[in-house]
Amino acid sequence: MNIAVIGTGYVGLVVGSCFAESGNDVVCVDNNSEKIANLEKGIIPIYEPGLTDLIESNVRDQRLNFTTDLQSAVRRSKVIFIAVGTPTTPSGAADLSAVYAVASAIGKAMDDYKVVVTKSTVPVGTTETVRKLICKETHQAFDVVSNPEFLKQGAAVEDFMRPDRIVLGCDNPKPAEIMGELYAPFLRTGSPIQVSDIRTAEMVKYAANSFLAARISFMNEISNLCEAVGADVEMVRKGLGADSRIGSAFLFPGVGYGGSCFPKDTRALIQTGREYSTPMRILEAVEAVNNDQANRFVHRVVNHFEGDLQGKRFGVWGLAFKPRTNDMRDAPSIRIIEQLLSKGATISAYDPEAMEDGKKVFGSRIEFAPNNYECLVGADAMLLVTEWQAFRNPNFERIKDLMRQHVIFDGRNIYEAGHLHSLGFQYYGIGRK
Ligand SMILES: NC(=O)c1ccc[n+]([C@@H]2O[C@H](COP(=O)([O-])OP(=O)(O)OC[C@H]3O[C@@H](n4cnc5c(N)ncnc54)[C@H](O)[C@@H]3O)[C@@H](O)[C@H]2O)c1
Repeated sequence: MNIAVIGTGYVGLVVGSCFAESGNDVVCVDNNSEKIANLEKGIIPIYEPGLTDLIESNVRDQRLNFTTDLQSAVRRSKVIFIAVGTPTTPSGAADLSAVYAVASAIGKAMDDYKVVVTKSTVPVGTTETVRKLICKETHQAFDVVSNPEFLKQGAAVEDFMRPDRIVLGCDNPKPAEIMGELYAPFLRTGSPIQVSDIRTAEMVKYAANSFLAARISFMNEISNLCEAVGADVEMVRKGLGADSRIGSAFLFPGVGYGGSCFPKDTRALIQTGREYSTPMRILEAVEAVNNDQANRFVHRVVNHFEGDLQGKRFGVWGLAFKPRTNDMRDAPSIRIIEQLLSKGATISAYDPEAMEDGKKVFGSRIEFAPNNYECLVGADAMLLVTEWQAFRNPNFERIKDLMRQHVIFDGRNIYEAGHLHSLGFQYYGIGRK
């Protein structure tokens, strides 16, 4: 099938290359000409495990192309995915300007029947507006489909190739059939296609992300209470996770969730609730707890140093909002580092994949170390912010030799307190005694 994917970011690149991998002819479109020129040269703008190989092999086999020419991409394609960004506006609502601009451009380009799919995360009603905008520009027949994406960064290719479910929102059987054909190669293990009306499909995505964010905030709040009452949140987490009614995913306490989805999507759903006079009280609490979590971490550092961070030097391990991605959008590391800088601290940071992104955020305001050990030279404390695999079992003897003071603030509870105490470190975890 000929497919166009408009918006060549984290989602568009994965969607485009995975559909190419299953034999389709895919063109990925972006209005960022530098990004497209780089992709044409084989320079992949993001880090996502497995993605580079997938892009390279599909480009080589001529099933995957990149262009800025939306019109010709639309004309050659039967299915067109809109995968542009939907960032937060100051009110908390999703900014739909890119989705709407693309919808109008698709309408103008249309010369035959097309299925236009909203893959971007969009508030309820957006796909209907996409239909109206296209209608204004064309008399051609077309269908719109809501097909939210559930991949997680860090395992995006894997998730797309083996989805738990495919959600389709449409209002007649024809586009559902076409989409079913497209997704069939990914559903051979029996994961379902769930077809609903368009509004319901749009809602599923926000409900899913909000629920996952709620689990994290719930666990963070429990961890705060564990600290107050002298309980160990790690045992509480395991106790909860072993309950088959609860499950163990997304229960890890830490410095708060970040990234381009959870903060933005919870805010957008809160905003939708306000618009429809249905306050999302749980989500408001989820957001408030999350906003406080990085502050609590900084507070712990400040307390340890008795309120004075002037001249203190901290080695920060991890900048990306989570492991296995370079993405720093809304990353807790930003909130933490900004606060420490404002209190007079010096920061040296290291991240396996997000160094370039970190330089864009902080410029010369912090130092960037060539590896995680150099990051700790002369440090008064180590701050573990992102739980990369490479940080899990470091050589603590070597670390001890490098640091000025032997203090570790573990924002993800990846180290064993007893072990670190026995090595002579002062250790602070989250929600632990
Ligand atoms: N990142 C994730 O893990 C994830 C997961 C599921 C869903 N989503 C949703 O998918 C959407 C895209 O997210 P992302 O992380 O890929 O964003 P992104 O910012 O990485 O990519 C968006 C791309 O769209 C391009 N673009 C913007 N306006 C355009 C236009 N008018 N014409 C052509 N291209 C345009 C940008 O240049 C950019 O390359 C968002 O709605 C997001 O909420 C993201």
